[in-house]
Amino acid sequence: MKRVSVIGSGAMGAGIAQVAAQAGCEVTLYDNNPDALEVASKKYTKIFDRLVEKGRKTREEADAILSRIELTHSMEHIDDSDMVVEAIVENLDVKKQVFRKLENLVSDECILATNTSSLSVTSIAAACDKPERVIGLHFFNPAPLMPLVEIVPAISTAPELANQLKELMFEWGKSPAIAQDTPGFIVNRVARPFYGEAIRIYEEGIADIPTIDWAMKTIGGFRMGPFELTDFIGHDVNYIVTETVFKEFYFDPRYKPSISQKRLVEAGFYGRKSGRGFYDYTEGVEQPKPTEDEVLGKKIVERVLAMLINEAVDALYLNIASKQDLDTAMTKGVNYPKGLLAWADEIGVSNVLETLENLHSEYDEDRYRPSVLLKRMASNGECFYN
Ligand code: NAI
Repeated sequence: MKRVSVIGSGAMGAGIAQVAAQAGCEVTLYDNNPDALEVASKKYTKIFDRLVEKGRKTREEADAILSRIELTHSMEHIDDSDMVVEAIVENLDVKKQVFRKLENLVSDECILATNTSSLSVTSIAAACDKPERVIGLHFFNPAPLMPLVEIVPAISTAPELANQLKELMFEWGKSPAIAQDTPGFIVNRVARPFYGEAIRIYEEGIADIPTIDWAMKTIGGFRMGPFELTDFIGHDVNYIVTETVFKEFYFDPRYKPSISQKRLVEAGFYGRKSGRGFYDYTEGVEQPKPTEDEVLGKKIVERVLAMLINEAVDALYLNIASKQDLDTAMTKGVNYPKGLLAWADEIGVSNVLETLENLHSEYDEDRYRPSVLLKRMASNGECFYN
């Protein structure tokens, strides 16, 4: 892979172009908005100056990488690409239009990838004359730092292309995971209970926000608690993902969004970026303290973790990804301390099942139904890894 073009020089496109250039590719970064190109160019100068300052790159290395990225306002410059990665606005009609244009510019062999996080790759591929060369290549933000890349073949994609891109992503220093073209791919599907179940526990009044965050970090080993994390991501973004996944799964109650998060969005309390979310970030405001109750903390972690594991097991059952790729996705895309299936082995598959069955019988809600695979494995005394 010598020549890579990236369409859209925003947060993701600029990062993806940097990753490709660092891997030695000649990169063309195209945007139809000259201001966006200007922003990307300034960002590169800042990033590479800092890398040189910190001694991570020599000036020569930094200059060599930068010289491999051509920023352009002219789409025709992508004509000799081996692969194009699209990272423009998340809008199906606009993406389809751009893919049609791309196909007319590049050679028949050029791979066309989309960085979409929520649209069906198959529907984007359907806009093309050669849908077999279209595939999802889903980087995480910030692309140069986050190792995970979800590779998402559409149902029309040539069978060998996913593995070919998996090899390429390893060459680029990434941790790839192949996912079926289904809502949320791996991470945005499997991670839903981290937010949803935590909010539910808070809504029920079982524990307050700082206590749930404390439990998930101190006892669960997660880097951030669910409330801190959604405040950081932004509730506008996180809520929309939840709502989209819920709708796309035909309103499966497992993915049901939370009213309390919806209210935050309606109020404009997006989290850190707006100064208030679940927490108040106004200067001088003291953050509420958790109740450091080990017994309560363990119950919280047990419940959220059982829901997360159930999601991962069900994704495995439905062939969304292999068990290794499911675990890679959660450790390399959202920094979970362990892969969820490896974690299930550690806790014991039958213990996870028992937690879910207790919740299911107590609440009588379909949300808590255990995956068929979890039940089968528990009854056979099986575990995920050897
Ligand atoms: P962004 O808004 O920062 O950048 C999009 C860029 O595309 C803008 O610079 C815009 O000028 C350009 N653009 C829009 N229409 C265009 C067109 N027709 N031709 C050429 N350029 C065009 O958006 P961001 O956050 O970089 O997202 C891009 C894609 O990546 C979306 O599909 C998004 O869902 C996906 N994504 C975003 C992540 C994130 O955390 N921001 C994470 C993973 C995927």
